[in-house]
Amino acid sequence: MHDITAIAAATPGSTRSPNFSKHQRWYPTIYDLRRGAARRLPHFAYEYGDGGAGDDTGIKHNWAALDAVEMVPRYGVMPKLPPVNVELFGRKYSAPLGVAPMGSPIVVWPGADKLLAKAAQRARVPYTLGVAGGATIEEIAAIAPDVMWLQMYRFAKNDHAIGFDLMRRADAAGVHVLMLTLDVPVRTVRSREVKVGMGGGGVFRPDWRMVAGMLKCPGWGLAFLQNTLPRFANIQPYAGPGAGLNDTIRFARTEMGGAFSWDEVKRYRDRWKKPLVLKGILHPEDAEMALKIGADGVLVSNHGGRQIEALPPPIDCLPGVVKAVGGRATVLFDSGVRSGTDVARALALGANAALAGKAFLWGLGALGSEGPGHVIDLLIDELQSALGQIGAQTPAEAKNVRVRHPGALHF
Ligand code: GLV
Repeated sequence: MHDITAIAAATPGSTRSPNFSKHQRWYPTIYDLRRGAARRLPHFAYEYGDGGAGDDTGIKHNWAALDAVEMVPRYGVMPKLPPVNVELFGRKYSAPLGVAPMGSPIVVWPGADKLLAKAAQRARVPYTLGVAGGATIEEIAAIAPDVMWLQMYRFAKNDHAIGFDLMRRADAAGVHVLMLTLDVPVRTVRSREVKVGMGGGGVFRPDWRMVAGMLKCPGWGLAFLQNTLPRFANIQPYAGPGAGLNDTIRFARTEMGGAFSWDEVKRYRDRWKKPLVLKGILHPEDAEMALKIGADGVLVSNHGGRQIEALPPPIDCLPGVVKAVGGRATVLFDSGVRSGTDVARALALGANAALAGKAFLWGLGALGSEGPGHVIDLLIDELQSALGQIGAQTPAEAKNVRVRHPGALHF
């Protein structure tokens, strides 16, 4: 592991990618990347990445709730932009932000998992590989050895043999943090996926609209040709010898998922000796339970509004969870992060770090392989600026700032 603290602290912006200025000219914010992705991606790819449950109400609520959080600045304290480096789970990162786990980012941009991992390693921010992603644990560990985390769904078949084997592989590959997803107890329907032919019978059947979409977007088509076919790289080995994509999809639909019981979580805890995070915690009593089981962290999340639109925005649940955790574990936040200012809002409400998902997909859509780096650059720059604006000299100091939070849930 490299010691990045000194580098990042001494020269803010030193993790920036070489093309930052060029990309900033056209894409000065994450919102611009979203517009660029809408223009440049095949329609099905954009719809998969951009959509949520129902009619996207949950996504809109997540955004509106974040937008409603206001921070009251204090002045007269700060001579320069604050450093934003942090320590999470005993490791040093250049900023309290990272890449959230995502199901199949390769649908949005072929090769996405590897591109995201590469950018995160370069910038020294956490990268969470989704277990259903398009690259193997071992491939990503080789690309992002210092910053790799792994998200896992439940695989109950044969007394969790697959889940435990994935965990063994993760440990052997050097994954530092294991994240168990609790926020997908049942499957959901995402209308925008269904409408582009991706949500139906559970198998991948490209139709003429998909092919036309690919032909219209040469950058995407080239990336497609340079990469292997979309696949569940980590799950394929368990789906039987010679399993093709649709066999693996069917296998995943049957064997992957369901609600973890607390007893099951405890069994993973007992086997995984490194930091364990439970993802999807919204209720303070579930945070208490996570701690009781020995989790090292919780990720306050509603799956980015992709499971059901009637969950409260995680930012509104964050203070309750932070209070219940009381500094005994790391509190992470995701669902709706579209700027470094959103990261600052989460820090002000007590999170130790925030993760972004869609922002990275939009970056990939607008800028291809250079997108993930640009998203990290923007988020770090905006976070530094936001902390500077509110008078916080470090990320940790953000929680001393007075916040107006109209949607905060009082349990
Ligand atoms: C998977 O986690 C997804 O939301 O697509």
